[in-house]
Amino acid sequence: MDVITDILRVKRDSKSLSRDALYKFASGIADGTVTDYQASAFLMASYINGLNSQETLALTMAMRDSGTVVQWDKSLSPLADKHSTGGVGDKMSLVLAPLAASIGIRVPMISGRGLGHTGGTLDKLESIPGFNVNLTLEQLKAQIADIGVCMIGQTDELAPADKILYSLRDATSTVTSIPLICASILSKKLAENPDILVFDVKCGTGAFMQTLDDARELARTLVQISEMSGKKASALITSMNHPIGFTTGNTLEVQESLNILRNKGPADSTELTIALVTEMAVHAGIDNSGELCRRKLANGEAMEVFVKMVEAQGGDLAAFEALPLAPVIVDVRAGRTGYWCGPDAFAVGKAVRKLGGGRYRVEDCVDPLVGWEQEVPCGSPVEDGQLLGRVHAADREAAAEAVAAISNSFKWDVPSDPLIFEEIRL
Ligand code: URA
Repeated sequence: MDVITDILRVKRDSKSLSRDALYKFASGIADGTVTDYQASAFLMASYINGLNSQETLALTMAMRDSGTVVQWDKSLSPLADKHSTGGVGDKMSLVLAPLAASIGIRVPMISGRGLGHTGGTLDKLESIPGFNVNLTLEQLKAQIADIGVCMIGQTDELAPADKILYSLRDATSTVTSIPLICASILSKKLAENPDILVFDVKCGTGAFMQTLDDARELARTLVQISEMSGKKASALITSMNHPIGFTTGNTLEVQESLNILRNKGPADSTELTIALVTEMAVHAGIDNSGELCRRKLANGEAMEVFVKMVEAQGGDLAAFEALPLAPVIVDVRAGRTGYWCGPDAFAVGKAVRKLGGGRYRVEDCVDPLVGWEQEVPCGSPVEDGQLLGRVHAADREAAAEAVAAISNSFKWDVPSDPLIFEEIRL
């Protein structure tokens, strides 16, 4: 089979595509010989008729091989990365990467920007004045060899076929296909080429995956395809019915990450970060990693690695600590006595995006100072009138709108979710 129309016919008729056909398709996307309308037809046929695991693996590898695959010196192993499917208040990467490096796991992390109502690691890092996320792959490799951790954005050399397919998926309503999500995420992670991949698959109102069944299917597919491609991998399915930690919004989340690194962070974000590092550590053969992580947070070694990374990437932590607060800060209080179960994750994500903390279009700028800051942990008994949190906004009108949206989403007197629903190892 050598023409793209044959490839499209096979998928249209719900038959299986060969590895060669999928390589031809992905290289044609990257070199422009497959047109956008042909790629869109492929996406819709794959969305409707599915891709089996061999096809998903072949598409993933073909998309990976449409660009550069980073080659690492063996002496740098174990190298690991974590991917989160996206949540609200999800600042885990900022702590996880230096914490893992402090226990001997090198983390070359390539992250994204905020998407829809979910935040992005790059936007958070860029709220540190001077922090440069646009390093070359050579600079990434040098920094990993030097300090064991580096956090950068996607470069044009990594999985270029994904960049094109991702924008077409958005325009063709084919984003939510599990094989396509898996190929998209993994093509970039496999191009980065770590030994170990850990996935934080978020499940709940603020997540891509709203049900445990869907989250489980995505988690299993990610782990299975990673293993088929030669990586060690596992996943945690974690709650995203309310935001993780106490803060949502770029500067507020970096401040919370610094608190976690100083061993003074909220219990849920600290525990989830340690659980994700522990997944990496199990694959890396490091024992007692939970205890080790707690020690590295308590003795400041994880913080030291973070400081080194910020300095290496041009960031100025003193300037970050001196940033002003948002111009308007409004208290949010309990309207009743009861067992407060927190705000809804989707409502907070949408409200923070509306405040200017997220984007509606790729070219939008984010306001680093705005957001939601929770005062009381979810699942606490509270009194009528008690302070529950604060909205940080650019002006009074925006603040009032966010206060109403967040307060209306409060949940009362329901059992709290566990932090981790399930662990997926195959
Ligand atoms: N992140 C990606 O990189 N791709 C997807 O399809 C979804 C999330």
